[in-house]
Amino acid sequence: MDSRPLFRDGLFADKTVLITGGGTGIGKQLALDFAALGAHVVIAARREERLRAVVDEIESRGGEGSFKLLDIRDEDRVDTVVGEVFEERGGLDVLINNAGGNFVGPAMAMSPNGWRTVIDINLNGTFLMSRAVGLRWLKAGVPGRIINMSATNAHNGSPLMAHSGASKAGINSLTETLAVEWGAAGITVNAILPGPVRTEGSDERLWTDRSTVEKLEARIPLGRFATPEDISPLVQFLASDAGAFITGSLITIDGGDRLRTPLF
Ligand code: COA
Repeated sequence: MDSRPLFRDGLFADKTVLITGGGTGIGKQLALDFAALGAHVVIAARREERLRAVVDEIESRGGEGSFKLLDIRDEDRVDTVVGEVFEERGGLDVLINNAGGNFVGPAMAMSPNGWRTVIDINLNGTFLMSRAVGLRWLKAGVPGRIINMSATNAHNGSPLMAHSGASKAGINSLTETLAVEWGAAGITVNAILPGPVRTEGSDERLWTDRSTVEKLEARIPLGRFATPEDISPLVQFLASDAGAFITGSLITIDGGDRLRTPLF
């Protein structure tokens, strides 16, 4: 696919977009693409060297970016970082709850702490970030956009991902509730549900076995896993004026994977 953004130049000029994660995978692609469209992108995650490399890449392409060190499980740090972003940027336009954790294993082999860790990163982290940002928007009486990275494993019974699927189902519910509670304030809240996506992180943690990948791909109508480049334009669409009347929506982007191509 052509790597140039699909939208017009300067679409997000003067906008600030805060992305959790952002050092790798989908978050990195989002950071590069939003910056290419004129946004100031703030990426927030745990690994400084990766964040710095993405900001360097944004700047080398003529864009604007900065980073914050953040573990979204840390309630106090979430509030500090969000406060700093509002202070330094004079507000915030878009929050993308992208950071996530996952590993594969049967439910009964998950330790309670392994279960808690994934729920804590994905669901509780999304809540803490949305809360810290939403409180500031509501107090200031300004509109905003929240886009949550969910996944189709929320509802398709994906084996070996009980913790991730449960966390994403929780994210879907939270998305709908916040959309209702905050709609009158002009805050939209939506979730994007990718099917299987190949990134360096997922190759390392989830799709380690090539023959399983091939079997999974064979069932996807479009014949392959998604790439971060497939997902990114949908996020930009929702963050743009084109998405102004979309809220509380759970939007699947999975190459038809949910339809599970029959054997014959
Ligand atoms: N299989 C089984 N259990 C696992 C596991 C695996 N592959 N990886 C971690 N766990 C368990 C640990 O054993 C621990 O439980 P325990 O205390 O009962 O032993 C628990 O999960 C927490 O692990 P820990 O490594 O201390 O947590 P962390 O906060 O450092 O890491 C993860 C969080 C596990 C989600 C890690 O994979 C991560 O940091 N992921 C971020 C990136 C990511 O996952 N991206 C998504 C790519 S698809």
